[in-house]
Amino acid sequence: MTTRTITRATALAAAGLLLAACGSSGGSGSGQAGAPSFEGRGPITFVAGKDSTGTVQPMLDRWNKAHPKEKVSFIQLPTDADAQRRQMIQNAETKSDAYTVLSLDVVWTSEFAAHQWIDKLPEDRFPMGKMLKPVVETSRYRGGLYAVPSSSDGGMLYYRTDLLKKAGVAEPPSTWAEMTAACAKVRKLPEAKGMSCYAGQFQKYEGLTVNFAEAVNSAGGTVTDASGKPDVDTPEARKGLDFLTGALKDGTIPKKAVTFQEEDGRQAFQSGELIFHRNWPYVYALAQKSGIKGKFAVAPLPGLDGPGSSSLGGHNMAVSAYAENKATALDFIKFMTSEENTRTFLESASLAPPYASLYDDPALIEQYPYLPVLKESILRAVPRPRVVPYGDVTSAVQQEAYAALTGEKGSEQALKDLQKALRKAVAQ
Ligand code: GLC
Repeated sequence: MTTRTITRATALAAAGLLLAACGSSGGSGSGQAGAPSFEGRGPITFVAGKDSTGTVQPMLDRWNKAHPKEKVSFIQLPTDADAQRRQMIQNAETKSDAYTVLSLDVVWTSEFAAHQWIDKLPEDRFPMGKMLKPVVETSRYRGGLYAVPSSSDGGMLYYRTDLLKKAGVAEPPSTWAEMTAACAKVRKLPEAKGMSCYAGQFQKYEGLTVNFAEAVNSAGGTVTDASGKPDVDTPEARKGLDFLTGALKDGTIPKKAVTFQEEDGRQAFQSGELIFHRNWPYVYALAQKSGIKGKFAVAPLPGLDGPGSSSLGGHNMAVSAYAENKATALDFIKFMTSEENTRTFLESASLAPPYASLYDDPALIEQYPYLPVLKESILRAVPRPRVVPYGDVTSAVQQEAYAALTGEKGSEQALKDLQKALRKAVAQ
């Protein structure tokens, strides 16, 4: 990152914090008392990362059929979360009305709300009480609701049931050591020739922040403490990072995994290159349509001494402060985030719904036996730092974690440098 970007981000973040401190509850448009009016009906846009599930457009077609004068066009951004964030920020900085409803990654709420790039939403219009608590928390900034959850996300361990069974491994592993031991057995099978043991997402982008935080948290460490203060230069965090660097060195994780985003890992798992794979729930439905259909299952992420913990992921829908036709935008968000439609997204694309009740529904559990595991994973998931300068925080993590994974720095040095960079990023 250039000094210019840091200075700009710092100044903007400071401005955001200042506004919040002055008692503004955010929002824009006509709502001076923190309650923007959602007026205007007509065509709008929905802006999200590329839809690898192919289920969004059919849902928009349903909306468009019922609302011919308020049609929604789908603008698909790159799959990479950082690239989505950059494009959305660019749009906001030019005050463009090109983007109406934004599908925000759960980690961007504070940044977008503090800068007043998104409007504060009328909470009474949405059934927030029916949604899982930690999921709802991701859509709040300073108590106000700035977005509505459309899908949650919890990291899970996908594994090859056929191979584990054949190798005499009765249960999926709950620790990293058990996972490598299981791989040693599976790799002796002729059909596992050339397979790697494990991969997550280790390219230098948001997915690496997720995977790094999961490794650290799963070894008893933290990235930031409960009050948001960086606390990553610890022996526990070191054990987490050492698991990843050690696994890359000894071949447990294939070298090419440092180029993996979600879709690369999914392809590798589906084409039989991996025995174990860390990914999000959306992979389940797609893998069931692939060559490994019926040959895999899902377990909680493993950790150092017992089950690990996932980073909390997911997406929330927000209204761009600079958009037109905000009455339509609000109705569209209500439609997309309804219990009925998030159920459809679960049934057709195995997206994790925000609604608590869907995880306990017997028909859904029959289709997706992992739902109780996922619910636990989301409820126990560790949020990534909830800070306004999130962009600076995540680039620091990506920078240092990547340096350690590629052997450019030792884990100890990388964590020391990360602690320093995080302190600087959050010191506003
Ligand atoms: C998924 C998660 C999101 C996360 C991203 C990282 O889209 O829902 O929260 O930031 O993956 O690649």
